[in-house]
Amino acid sequence: MKVGILGTGMVGQTIGNALAAQGHLVMLGSRQAGKAEAVAWARSAGVNARQGSFADAAAFGELIFNCTKGDAAVAAITAAGPVNLAGKALVDVSNPLDFSKGMPPSLFVGNTDSLAEQVQRAAPQAKVVKALNTLNCYLMVDPSKLAGDHDLFICGDDADAKAQVQGLLTGAFGWKPAQIRDLGPLSGARATEALLPLWIRLFGSLGHANFNFHMNIGPAPKD
Ligand SMILES: NC(=O)c1ccc[n+]([C@@H]2O[C@H](COP(=O)([O-])OP(=O)(O)OC[C@H]3O[C@@H](n4cnc5c(N)ncnc54)[C@H](OP(=O)(O)O)[C@@H]3O)[C@@H](O)[C@H]2O)c1
Repeated sequence: MKVGILGTGMVGQTIGNALAAQGHLVMLGSRQAGKAEAVAWARSAGVNARQGSFADAAAFGELIFNCTKGDAAVAAITAAGPVNLAGKALVDVSNPLDFSKGMPPSLFVGNTDSLAEQVQRAAPQAKVVKALNTLNCYLMVDPSKLAGDHDLFICGDDADAKAQVQGLLTGAFGWKPAQIRDLGPLSGARATEALLPLWIRLFGSLGHANFNFHMNIGPAPKD
């Protein structure tokens, strides 16, 4: 499959590496085509990898990942071009972190709205699926790096897009269907983005990012 990735940081490159290694054709998008880091990434990731602008990557991909800085995500989606994103599943991995008042960051949107919903409003004909935003990027693409059971949250308004994304998560990244917890509509992103203040404090107390959330779920109690 052709995959467009908006974002040339650690997350975009890590997801791009994993997909290119699986035989997908990947284009990393940036504010300007030819960014040095993206050119170096495309060179190192092999024949399946290429780079371009946000709009190039959005037009190239049959499925799109948004891996841009949270407070730039809407600008990146706008630059990518809503018309280039129309009808495509768009996996939103970004988080609405506000570092303007120092550490730990706060969230610049939440509770009654989410960054995923802002992204959806910026590209109304895209099929936004929120996923992968609650764990480190090395675990996103290889959950087996963390022993034991752990969970991935997914939500979105389009059932077909969600199924397509789940197929990629299981097929390319190795998530087991039982690990993927579907929270329903895209407004579920209000909850998964709200996990970030907890994730960041756990990162601070543990001193590393090799952890993930897991729920023990028992049988429903009998009345
Ligand atoms: N690090 C993780 O493991 C992890 C885990 C879960 C979720 N996330 C989320 O994933 C996203 C990506 O994280 P990251 O650390 O890989 O990269 P990042 O540094 O947060 O973002 C890099 C991307 O943002 C773009 N960008 C920055 N300022 C911009 C602006 N003013 N307008 C348009 N685009 C702009 C950059 O464009 P250029 O290419 O042009 O420079 C670059 O492509 C973030 O939202 C983060 O919260 C990260």
